[in-house]
Amino acid sequence: MSSTLFRTKNVEQSILDTEEPEHALKKSLSAVDLTVFGVGVIIGTGIFVLTGTVAKNNAGPAVSLAFVAAGVACALAALCYAEFASTVPVAGSAYTFSYASLGELPAWIIGWDLVLEFALGTAVVAVGWSGYIASLLDNAGWHLPDALSGREGAEGFGFDILAAALVLVLTGILVLGVKLSARITSLVVAIKVTVVLTVIIAGAFLINGDNYDPFVPKTQTVPAGESLQAPLIQLMFGWAPSNFGVMGIFTAASVVFFAFIGFDVVATAAEETRNPQRDMPRGILGSLLICTVLYVAVSIVVTGMQHYSRLSVDAPLADAFKSTGHPWFAGFISFGAAVGLTTVCMILLLGQTRVFFAMSRDGLLPRFFSQVHPKFKTPHRPTVLLGVLIAILAGFTSLSELAELVNIGTLFAFVVVAIGVIILRRTRPDLPRAFRTPWVPVLPILSVLASLWLMLNLPAETWLRFGIWMVVGCVVYFLYGRSHSRVGRHEETTRAEVLRGKPGGPQ
Ligand code: ALA
Repeated sequence: MSSTLFRTKNVEQSILDTEEPEHALKKSLSAVDLTVFGVGVIIGTGIFVLTGTVAKNNAGPAVSLAFVAAGVACALAALCYAEFASTVPVAGSAYTFSYASLGELPAWIIGWDLVLEFALGTAVVAVGWSGYIASLLDNAGWHLPDALSGREGAEGFGFDILAAALVLVLTGILVLGVKLSARITSLVVAIKVTVVLTVIIAGAFLINGDNYDPFVPKTQTVPAGESLQAPLIQLMFGWAPSNFGVMGIFTAASVVFFAFIGFDVVATAAEETRNPQRDMPRGILGSLLICTVLYVAVSIVVTGMQHYSRLSVDAPLADAFKSTGHPWFAGFISFGAAVGLTTVCMILLLGQTRVFFAMSRDGLLPRFFSQVHPKFKTPHRPTVLLGVLIAILAGFTSLSELAELVNIGTLFAFVVVAIGVIILRRTRPDLPRAFRTPWVPVLPILSVLASLWLMLNLPAETWLRFGIWMVVGCVVYFLYGRSHSRVGRHEETTRAEVLRGKPGGPQ
């Protein structure tokens, strides 16, 4: 049985599958499209919202160091992703990579994990977007009834109609085709980057050096509360839960990690890329580098404009400008944030439908979902199904804890991909690799350690929720995926033919 759980999908077969006409996606994206895609999904709730929260609660002005720490962990992972995406240019990202290297069960686990990451990530960002829109509407004197503007303040029933509507509109756009989505994305990304640069440049003139003192605030012990909310590492070693200080920087890094999520989504578009061997690494590493530089600059500027203890947690960038007497800038930033979050949401949704599509094409989920639309060449069935489910989720959920769940899922995927790079180098040294991760196995091992370190800095309850989701995934695999797997069925047919005396070729 263990051999069936770890059966791998031949890389050549993965690439061949993408060429079956009724399952083929259109190859239309270039390196620039991918970079724009990357920046479009990376810059979002993390920098626009979480910067304030973690500066205030965990790291003070040293939040910029937290961005550096999270950025380093992501760069290590990106170098591993780039090798995989340029070797196995097939929809499905880490899922496909694991199927080629680690085997079917690990691949299923990672696919299930990515569905969690993207679905919850989409919902989290949609809810954040709705908050910004509601605040812009408020400025214009329009107020949605409490019951339709989310859960806060609503008595009994509350449904965030704006968040749900956003997800449904984006679902429609994705059904119409990636190229159209990429065009819309480019425009929105331009607006978002302009807003971020405005924060950096205009804000630089409003910095008060006193706000950087102390740069790394002294460690503060947190009164013992719910122990499950403490980072797992503190519980493991029996440390008193604390904020700020050096450990506070790592706690902050494990939260602002959310701000980097998205470069891995670029890898999910490998199959729709014209020249994946060359363009994938460029798209992944390029978008990550641009975002890291912007994040560090924004966090330095914002904590210099306003003392970290007074930063707002809802709209820290906009409110920092208000606090220095520049409300016009604040309005402009809110507008840019609302526009910018749209693309984040759309690309997370795209990534998730592509993983679902790849799993269904392999028979691990019903094959019904892997028929592409005859005209638009998009996987319309999973797009519509998941779009509707996420719209409902976005309408009913609140976001802060979900963001941590998204982080743990993503970090877990990074660990698997880094291990996969080492394994595939050994099992398939012959495969052409347009991009090779440097210093294998040292760099992938460092990537595993960095991702695990950030995971350990997440709350124990996040680990618990993640564990439950994974157990449910294993049940689904054993009840459905294992017996419907195409790789498995192929193996059975080959075995039967061999028994009947016919030669069974390799897959
Ligand atoms: N990186 C994305 C964001 O910060 C998910 O919203």
